[in-house]
Amino acid sequence: MAEGFVSVLKGVRFSYPRTDTAALDGVDLEIRAGEWIALLGPNGSGKSTLAKHLNALLAPTQGVCLVCGRDTRDEKALEAIRRLVAMVFQNPDNQLVAAVVEEDAAFGPENAGLPPEVIRSRVDWALSVCGLSGKERSPVYTLSGGQKQRLAVAGALAMEPPCLVLDEATAMLDPQGRTEIMDVVADLNGRGMTIVQITHRLEEVVSCDRVAVIDGGVLRWQGTPLDLFALGPDLLATWGLETPPFIRLWQELCGAGLLDPAVPPSPKEVLDALCR
Ligand SMILES: Nc1ncnc2c1ncn2[C@@H]1O[C@H](COP(=O)(O)OP(=O)(O)OP(=O)(O)O)[C@@H](O)[C@H]1O
Ligand SMILES: [Mg+2]
Repeated sequence: MAEGFVSVLKGVRFSYPRTDTAALDGVDLEIRAGEWIALLGPNGSGKSTLAKHLNALLAPTQGVCLVCGRDTRDEKALEAIRRLVAMVFQNPDNQLVAAVVEEDAAFGPENAGLPPEVIRSRVDWALSVCGLSGKERSPVYTLSGGQKQRLAVAGALAMEPPCLVLDEATAMLDPQGRTEIMDVVADLNGRGMTIVQITHRLEEVVSCDRVAVIDGGVLRWQGTPLDLFALGPDLLATWGLETPPFIRLWQELCGAGLLDPAVPPSPKEVLDALCR
């Protein structure tokens, strides 16, 4: 699915019009095919600005951003880039465009002028990946928050993008809705889709391949989730990252020799270790 996908940012600097400070200040980052990368950082650190560079909603003031070799400043490449990288934002209500579930998921492929049978099979596939099979004819307003956000993901998937960028896509959801979205993301990545996931929640980065921390428009740190947790709550707090009780508990159980710190934390194992 993600075969050959790669996005490269070199020395990317970006300033919004009429601002003095750079929202991105010399960002070098490569996102490789099939990778699940999480982007963390405090409010206003530049996460959304970076995400918007990945599908050419913004273009660098200096430096270069390439998506599969296409320069995001090249207007002729915009359509191709937007097919390669789909975005899902925070608020599902701002992303849904139709009144009925299957019509919403069909919006992208219909706009792209695809034949009806291709649209039908893409919509069926996208809704089934997102756990919405059976809801095809449901009015969108009857969906829960988590279902609406899964429909927003389905709408992005119906374009069959090799890369999906989620900009705090779980932020407005309850714990159940967050789990639903994270399960879909894990499934998609398991099928080979490249995932760029922006989040404030450390428990959501446990399964990803690589974490990048941005602060003040600068990439401050990159590593695996386990390396990140090993930095400790105090350093993480300086980046506005709160260590959730689940990770703290896991760390204590590792410290007590009850869990292996080389194995990423899972709620089930933490519970089992607690009950031993
Ligand atoms: N449209 C805009 N015009 C001017 N400045 C902006 C604009 N959008 C963002 N900024 C500024 O750019 C910087 C980076 O913002 P950005 O939205 O990328 O941060 P973020 O990490 O996504 O924050 P959050 O966690 O709140 O979503 C901030 O200082 C912000 O105030
Ligand atoms: Mg943001």
